Amino acid sequence: MRLENKVAIVTGGASGIGRATVLKLAREGARVAIADIESQMELAGKVVDEVKSAGGNAIAVAANVANRAQVEAMTETVVKQFGRLDILVANAGITKDAFTIRKTKEGEIKKMSDEQWDAVLGVNLKGTWLCCQAAALPMMEQKSGKMSLTASFGIRGNMGQANYAASKAGIIGLTRTLALEFARFNVNVNCIAPGATKTPMTATIPADLVAKLSEKIPLKRFAEPEEIANVHLFLVSNESSYVTGQCIFVDGGGTLGV
Ligand SMILES: NC(=O)c1ccc[n+]([C@@H]2O[C@H](COP(=O)([O-])OP(=O)(O)OC[C@H]3O[C@@H](n4cnc5c(N)ncnc54)[C@H](O)[C@@H]3O)[C@@H](O)[C@H]2O)c1
Repeated sequence: MRLENKVAIVTGGASGIGRATVLKLAREGARVAIADIESQMELAGKVVDEVKSAGGNAIAVAANVANRAQVEAMTETVVKQFGRLDILVANAGITKDAFTIRKTKEGEIKKMSDEQWDAVLGVNLKGTWLCCQAAALPMMEQKSGKMSLTASFGIRGNMGQANYAASKAGIIGLTRTLALEFARFNVNVNCIAPGATKTPMTATIPADLVAKLSEKIPLKRFAEPEEIANVHLFLVSNESSYVTGQCIFVDGGGTLGV
């Protein structure tokens, strides 16, 4: 097993890519804390049950990643429960799409609100930063650790996603800077940029649009969550020991030629 005796936190671990990552890390021997928002605790509990019935060990911890006090409390709970922290998969993320500016037929101007901007930047970018800050403390003491953050192929620019694209592009800059700052503590920091993936986040896209979007992807399909989780696993395992500050696009070639 590749993660024997390791302890991991996966944010947003109740659903989609996070859930697939929890199951994969646990199968490789890690004890995993699923950090998700309060309203997802029932789902998180089901993932804990799945891990346990496969012989693994997991707990669910309620935390809003955009809230410093909750993130710090979550990290303390995990270290108290499992005695250490080796891995952070910062996966929690949201979208709140709207065009930056748009005139309707009635002449009214509809545009992305400050609330939509702040919510997405708050969860995706600040939330990731807060989790990295909190997780870095035990990792620095141990002089070892692995962080795998989550950008998106949406950084290439996506209509209506100014907030999302900005937050995910920010993750790449954050990754590179944290990799520099944490290297002396033997903590590797990398990120992945998933392409369109079959999760609840994309479940509302109508089938005809999925078909149209798939046509534009060189591999001609959306990813399965497990295909994204495989790359998180690589980045938190010892196999990536000499990789830091990088962003791996896991997008079926979706950003090629753009
Ligand atoms: N699905 C895609 O096509 C796709 C593409 C590129 C990037 N991503 C990124 O992958 C990550 C996972 O997305 P997914 O598709 O699995 O989505 P998902 O909606 O299935 O899962 C996201 C999880 O994050 C949790 N979450 C949301 N806000 C949170 C908060 N404030 N604190 C803690 N947890 C929170 C949700 O409750 C949910 O369990 C996100 O960062 C997303 O931006 C997804």
